[in-house]
Amino acid sequence: MTKLSNSAVLKITEICDRYKDEPTPLMMILSDIQNEYGYIPLEVQEVVSKKTGISVAEIYGVVTFYSFFSLTPKGKYVIGCCLGTACYVKGAQQVIDKFSEILEIKPGETSKDGMFTLDALRCIGACGIAPAVSINGTVYPKMSVDQVSGIINDYRNKEANA
Ligand code: FES
Repeated sequence: MTKLSNSAVLKITEICDRYKDEPTPLMMILSDIQNEYGYIPLEVQEVVSKKTGISVAEIYGVVTFYSFFSLTPKGKYVIGCCLGTACYVKGAQQVIDKFSEILEIKPGETSKDGMFTLDALRCIGACGIAPAVSINGTVYPKMSVDQVSGIINDYRNKEANA
């Protein structure tokens, strides 16, 4: 387990302090930490536990229950493929399989270069444009298998030219 730097501990403490007057601060604290660091490993949960008095077991339960939170670092681009019913019947499984094949990762994993994380999602409320894929919040409507490699290349080129 990696040891947190003093500045990370201070930052987490500061985030906990933001919500010290809230009756149920845990979700807000974890959301801010997730936004700040991109993930919430166990050592961070321990700091939150010490600061708030909420048990690590409870914090761990929340982090692992909500897909918004992550225990491991996410890639720079998080690709969420909806596998809800409307998307599934329109070929979402083939779309996510194509992302898996090109990126050489399974859903839930991050590519070796740290650039892409692939997630399988439940309905994201865009059934009218199924199958829907969201990349860092940008929704791609009516995705087809043929579009996948072009989209990945666009992101790779964007990085190469950054
Ligand atoms: S099932 Fe995919 S957006 Fe609703």
